[in-house]
Amino acid sequence: MSDQKTYTLITGASNGIGKALAENCAARGYNALLVALPEPKLEEVTNELRTQYPNQDFQFLGSDLMQKEAPQEIYNWCQENGYVINALMNNAGLGNSGAFDSKPANFYYGQMQLNMVNLVMLTHLFLKDLKSLPKGYILNVASMAAFYDIPYKGIYSASKRFVYSFSRSLRKELEDTNVSVTVLCPAAVLTNPDVLARNEQMGFFSKLTQATPEEVAEYTISRMLRGKAVAIPKAVPRFYKALGKMIPYNMKIRILAKQFVKQQQ
Ligand SMILES: NC(=O)c1ccc[n+]([C@@H]2O[C@H](COP(=O)([O-])OP(=O)(O)OC[C@H]3O[C@@H](n4cnc5c(N)ncnc54)[C@H](OP(=O)(O)O)[C@@H]3O)[C@@H](O)[C@H]2O)c1
Repeated sequence: MSDQKTYTLITGASNGIGKALAENCAARGYNALLVALPEPKLEEVTNELRTQYPNQDFQFLGSDLMQKEAPQEIYNWCQENGYVINALMNNAGLGNSGAFDSKPANFYYGQMQLNMVNLVMLTHLFLKDLKSLPKGYILNVASMAAFYDIPYKGIYSASKRFVYSFSRSLRKELEDTNVSVTVLCPAAVLTNPDVLARNEQMGFFSKLTQATPEEVAEYTISRMLRGKAVAIPKAVPRFYKALGKMIPYNMKIRILAKQFVKQQQ
């Protein structure tokens, strides 16, 4: 990365993949800005990094990325404090499970705002600044769910396909610039209690796809720095993705419906 004092900005950095991305960036010698919901653990994670890497700078901002104003507030915070972002990691996101009509419409509104709308808004706000640097990176976190239509998880999988498609398109648009776009598509990552409980219900073959947040962060940041388009951590999910192309659609969606309805019970 460049010699100017620069920062990696990570959303959803207080837990799971985002926290592991922040820790991995810190271990590589980068300064980082941690954004997540305004909960005490955000400050705790930031303070842990400050203690472990006293020669680097770590700052945090509590912000609810389900709110329309959040991206502009995050951008203004960076401007007011002179934080120059050379890597934007749009990680914060929310899953869902259960029948589509089992949740209030407002839940999906917030989920779409977080997973898609504000990811686009943050990218739009920071892009001109990234372009002005010798090298800039955008890392958007999608999911393996981006590659499937998933009953009982339809808004989530559709939102992640949006992230995947947007990232690949933007990458092409930016191919003659200094900004590289990478999209992360992990399978199951052992992060929050919900994911851990769901993974307990997984069958043997699905469990083979599991990764720790630390494994995901190390693999993904290496791919991002090498300017790769897509990061799918671990060989088993990459194999399943290739295998999935050979399975007829109707069979695939039946298997997924059975798997994901099981997770609700
Ligand atoms: N875990 C998996 O199996 C998996 C697989 C594929 C893709 N992904 C994707 O990876 C990303 C991270 O997932 P994860 O499992 O690491 O999640 P996680 O452990 O639940 O952590 C989510 C992070 O995002 C923050 N966050 C949640 N809602 C937010 C909001 N409205 N505004 C700002 N920050 C918010 C959380 O803050 P608090 O801790 O304060 O809530 C936390 O820092 C998501 O986009 C997810 O869809 C995860």
